[in-house]
Amino acid sequence: MKQYLKHHEWHIIEEGLDPHTNKISESVFSIGNGRMGQRANFEEEYTGETLRGSYVAGVYYPDKTRVGWWKNGYPEYFAKVLNAPDWIGIHVRIDDQKLDLAKCKVEDFKRVLDMKAGLLMRSFAATLPDGKKVRVESKRFCSMARGEVGAIRYSITPLNFSSKGTLSIFVNADVVNKDSNYDEKFWEEIYKEGSEGIAIVTAQTKKTFFHVTTGMRYVILSDGKKIKPERINIEQREKFSGNIVQLNLEEGKELVVYKYAAILSSENHPKEKLVENCRKVLDEAFDAGFETLFAEHEKVWAHKWEECDITIDGDVAAQQGIRFNIFQLSQTYTGEDERLNIGPKGFTGEKYGGSTYWDTEAYCIPFYLGTAEQKVARNLLIYRYKHLPKAIENARKLGFKDGAAFYPFVTMNGEECHNEWEITFEEIHRTSAMAYAIRDYIDYTGDSHYLAEFGLEVLIGISRFWAQRVNWSSDKNKYVILGVTGPNEYENNVNNNWYTNYLGVWTLKYTQQAIDYVKKEDPKRFSEIVEKTKLNEKEETANWKEIATKMYFPEDEKRGVFLQQDGFLDKELLRVTELKPEDRPINQKWSWDRILRSCFIKQADVLQGLYLFEDDFEQESIRKNFDFYEPMTVHESSLSPCVHAILASKLGYKERAYEFYLRTARLDLDDYNNDTEEGCHITSMAGTWMSVVKGFGGMRVKEGKLHFNPFIPDKWKSYSFRLEFRNRVIKLTVTKDSCETILESGEPMEIVLKDEVKELK
Ligand code: BGC
Repeated sequence: MKQYLKHHEWHIIEEGLDPHTNKISESVFSIGNGRMGQRANFEEEYTGETLRGSYVAGVYYPDKTRVGWWKNGYPEYFAKVLNAPDWIGIHVRIDDQKLDLAKCKVEDFKRVLDMKAGLLMRSFAATLPDGKKVRVESKRFCSMARGEVGAIRYSITPLNFSSKGTLSIFVNADVVNKDSNYDEKFWEEIYKEGSEGIAIVTAQTKKTFFHVTTGMRYVILSDGKKIKPERINIEQREKFSGNIVQLNLEEGKELVVYKYAAILSSENHPKEKLVENCRKVLDEAFDAGFETLFAEHEKVWAHKWEECDITIDGDVAAQQGIRFNIFQLSQTYTGEDERLNIGPKGFTGEKYGGSTYWDTEAYCIPFYLGTAEQKVARNLLIYRYKHLPKAIENARKLGFKDGAAFYPFVTMNGEECHNEWEITFEEIHRTSAMAYAIRDYIDYTGDSHYLAEFGLEVLIGISRFWAQRVNWSSDKNKYVILGVTGPNEYENNVNNNWYTNYLGVWTLKYTQQAIDYVKKEDPKRFSEIVEKTKLNEKEETANWKEIATKMYFPEDEKRGVFLQQDGFLDKELLRVTELKPEDRPINQKWSWDRILRSCFIKQADVLQGLYLFEDDFEQESIRKNFDFYEPMTVHESSLSPCVHAILASKLGYKERAYEFYLRTARLDLDDYNNDTEEGCHITSMAGTWMSVVKGFGGMRVKEGKLHFNPFIPDKWKSYSFRLEFRNRVIKLTVTKDSCETILESGEPMEIVLKDEVKELK
């Protein structure tokens, strides 16, 4: 855990440049706009520790799988989120020296992320090896209003000298992925141009043949007036195009560079039009200018914050935490493009690759349901509907048949591209996250028609998978599910993971309900689905029912707990508090062998099931399981503390709930798991939102009605959030001694507040 960032309600602030935390800051201060994004790398050259990263949504590379022992059924590739062409570069030389913060004395360094406006700022004074001192200030943003535009204001002021300087202002597609399996470069040059004031490069990804055209224009001002540089040289090499601008630097005089970039991909433009369209986008941005572009951008952010801000009074760390999470989520996925999804690292790092994990369905959908128009969550569901044929193919590759659908753990286009057998083959619970999300969406929106349109086909495919994945144990006289990995990835190849068995059975039952519903409400569509899926309704559903009634669930009646898997009680049952601080995080300190044999749990597993299906269990049973498993949970997955926060809230463990909240909300800000330098944990940020709304606010939807059962953490004076719910906007404000619900827009409705029905007008 590191606590070097200053607390502030709207800003993330770093003071002083520490090379050891630079990569963490690069992740935390990342900016994006749903179409593209980038880490908070420096504009100037930096030879210190850095992970340069710029990403364009949907553009990936299928890196050939690298494993020690090839297993049949392995995906051929791992889809890498690609480090895309760099558009931020402004390299500075003063006389013969490079401005490189790793080689200068740096004072007054400050990096600020203004979350309200979506603006990254940086300032410092640097003394070069020969004693020349300059002050630099930079501001940049990825426009929320024009998804293909980025803009930078970069200023230099000589503090103790007048001399000659050069600026290299460029776009560069000669970039690498740190996690490339074979040290390959993924981009090839297709086109470049460069002349005074402008540079454009089109690069193509190998194998996937995406084209990305990156262009830049710039202007340099002094005293508000455009200056005429001494000389401009065109600088070009492979995949690189820019200008080298020679200038006179005058002591005390600020020079300001405005750099405008346009980043277009063949996902959104015909390849042959990319350069032409890039010029157009670039010219429009240049003509609008930095201030106009920024004003438009700020307006979009203001609107976003109106929709989804959560305010917390009396606790700046908590306020900053929740806003940081909402900020990152909003700039990762805007819901406008149904081909896109929410990658676990968003636009903040390479790790994990792919764009879509079960994280989307299990964690992110509730956030978008609560804060955006209904179509956003619906688009996320349709994304999976469109991948159904691939899910069937994934299952077929592993030997399943007759339309069984096995959704991938990681994917870009529906194909599985995760490369660890324990997860690829065994972490099968993920396929039912898609089924759960359908129910979640329908419960929240009331859009049951979704079942007939898209949902049922998906459910049938997933149920078929479960029906083939179980096997009958004549020893137990029950169905069992063998050789799995549950959500807790610190156990592999276990039998009867309680969560997996529960989810499988739930899916079979829910599919039956969905069949009954569609058959009754839309018989014509039902016949179409039967025909399309070749459903043998009678036989298949009878089999599903038989499995659901005869499934085996491991439990310990004495303790009153469900067992994470067969044999769990044979372990030495220790508490996390017994671990030495130097042993944590265990995934960085212990051998895998030691982790697998230990009782320590990476993330909510049995508790994940109790969270998703809380209404199926008595409060006392949830309590016993929480008290048993929580002390063994190391929370080394970002997805863990939020589930614990929600359950702790439900159980009335207010202090614990608050601790878990802080941990989830500040996971990246305080680098809890020592891994933020690889990127932020974007998908778990939706869990942070849930900790407040479902945890402290006690929000649930039951039979079409919104329920709230709020409490307020001791440290807080008040908190409030808004929810979009069935064409209405509801605001809940909780103080120490009151709880106010307001209908901000939409038709009157009833809600249930602390078990009392209340009419909102
Ligand atoms: C978690 C998975 C999750 C993945 C991406 C892993 O550490 O164990 O459940 O899907 O991260 O967020």
